[in-house]
Amino acid sequence: MKILRLLPFFLALPLAAQQQRVALTPPMGWNSWNHFATRVTEADVRGAADAIAASGMKDAGYVYVNIDDAWEGKRDAQGVIHSNEKFPDMKALGDYIHSKGLKFGIYSSPGPQTCARYEGSYQHEEQDAKTWAEWGVDYVKYDLCSFRPIMNAAAAKDPEHAEEIKFKLMKEAYDKMSKALKATGRPIVLSLCQYGWNDVWTWGPEVGGNLWRTTDDIRDSYLSMSQIGFSQAGLSKYAGPGHWNDPDMLEIGNGLMTAEEYRTHMSLWCLLAAPLLAGNDLSKMTDETKSILLNKEAIALDQDPLGKQGDRVWAKGALEVWAKPLSNGKVAVGLFNRSLEAAPVSFKLSDVGAKSGAKARDLWAHKDLGALKDSYTSTIPAHGVVLLKLE
Ligand code: GLA
Repeated sequence: MKILRLLPFFLALPLAAQQQRVALTPPMGWNSWNHFATRVTEADVRGAADAIAASGMKDAGYVYVNIDDAWEGKRDAQGVIHSNEKFPDMKALGDYIHSKGLKFGIYSSPGPQTCARYEGSYQHEEQDAKTWAEWGVDYVKYDLCSFRPIMNAAAAKDPEHAEEIKFKLMKEAYDKMSKALKATGRPIVLSLCQYGWNDVWTWGPEVGGNLWRTTDDIRDSYLSMSQIGFSQAGLSKYAGPGHWNDPDMLEIGNGLMTAEEYRTHMSLWCLLAAPLLAGNDLSKMTDETKSILLNKEAIALDQDPLGKQGDRVWAKGALEVWAKPLSNGKVAVGLFNRSLEAAPVSFKLSDVGAKSGAKARDLWAHKDLGALKDSYTSTIPAHGVVLLKLE
């Protein structure tokens, strides 16, 4: 009897264990969308892989080389998906990426078309998962897009239960791809992209998501980046090893924010234990961009093995303090100034879970600040940040 009662637990174990195998820390790498959008070519992707290996990014932890939308071609008579003329040989591209010690990611939609109107995986889920596994794919971003009309059509037949029906269909679509990917036997990260609808953080893991977008698309502007980043307050309890909140890819190095603003972007994403997917042209990075993307002390916060997302601990007007618990009782603290003028920001050590006497290090100045007493104050530049580690 007892054994029978335990049976569901044993049956569930391999699936859960498998889901936990990938993305034990937030995925790091590069994605083509923010810079190349639909213009992306195989040469751009190879160039990104080369740059990751040569620039020190690989050593800093960036491993996924992800093609976003616009690689897709047509299906053949057997329904097998092919890449378009910009991507002559996906298997060879995957091999090239792997030869650099990196991992290969692509993109699709549960609908018949992707957001940029390329071929989606609707009714070809198992077949596509197999094809991708044959190409050596390690990461799939699955973007809702044209699945929405399918949800809406089903809901229109039963207006009284419209929301329930749409929600159920959406969850089933993600679950279906998750199962199809698992059936390939290849460990593949599944990235859910449905812009945070229906509080995806509450059910993302249930449908096999290793990460899920929490908002609409980011743009290369302080307004967009800060609205998305600071709106993540309250979501920390939903993240952990194998399943992460995703406030979208990085814009660092794309040119429309100042260095101070990009440091805010990087600091906030690291405190959020967010996926760190660079979204710039890696073959043309300034030293300033490199100093931000390659700040190993900031990256270490993001990748801390405890896997806890940080959260807001204090805010007053445009000033905010965020803290992220780290392994071995350490803690990361970000002091942010969202206003257009420099301003002092303070925090009490007790408010961030640290003890009086904790030693602080400034992770952008790369300087030890010595032991702190009960509180700390620093003048933060406009749109800027001071990022600390306390131990
Ligand atoms: C959506 C996603 C973006 C990107 C594009 C591609 O807008 O949210 O991240 O993948 O589609 O078309």
